[in-house]
Amino acid sequence: PRIVVLVSGEGSNLEAILDAVRDGRLQARVAAVISNRPEANALRRAAGHGIAGEALDHRAYVSREAFDEALARAIDAHRPELVVLAGFMRILTPAFVNHYLGRMLNIHPSLLPAYPGLHTHARALADGAERHGASVHFVTAELDGGPVVLQGWVPIRTGDTPENLASRVLEVEHCLYPLAIGWFVAGRLRLDGKRATLDGIPL
Ligand code: GRF
Repeated sequence: PRIVVLVSGEGSNLEAILDAVRDGRLQARVAAVISNRPEANALRRAAGHGIAGEALDHRAYVSREAFDEALARAIDAHRPELVVLAGFMRILTPAFVNHYLGRMLNIHPSLLPAYPGLHTHARALADGAERHGASVHFVTAELDGGPVVLQGWVPIRTGDTPENLASRVLEVEHCLYPLAIGWFVAGRLRLDGKRATLDGIPL
């Protein structure tokens, strides 16, 4: 099965996916890596795995709709079974989301439904939360609101900063994402109405 990974920044989740593919832990082919930021380190990581990443600079488009249409054309040229958002920092238009409904996953650095949006680590710390983590979810029209597929958590420790908490959560992300993608490409994971199912069982 073919997957297309969308990135904007560092690309550590992309690297975790590429490592899993290389090591045979994930039976998928990364057909393309597309970044909305030409300078993203994620493109260098893709190149390190022999993948010529593509840059599609959102600043070159007159509107969000125009960018999303161009992005969809770039993705669909690779005919992927699954689109994987891996630190892709763009709000998506409803048309784009609907086009990939049930075949697009995102990873978000919080235990959803807690802390959708940005600055999740600082918000968890400010709340005095005992646990924090990451969630893989299907992408739907609601920002960070689609059905959760898989979550992992870490304890919050005294003296944690947003930065060290983020790096502990990232380690969890790197385990979660290849696993969830593997379920999808094996045909085990589905979006069924408003819930995700694994082997037909609601998650
Ligand atoms: C991750 O924390 C991801 O959950 C969030 O953005 C970050 C991307 O990190 N959406 P990376 O680019 O994969 O290193």
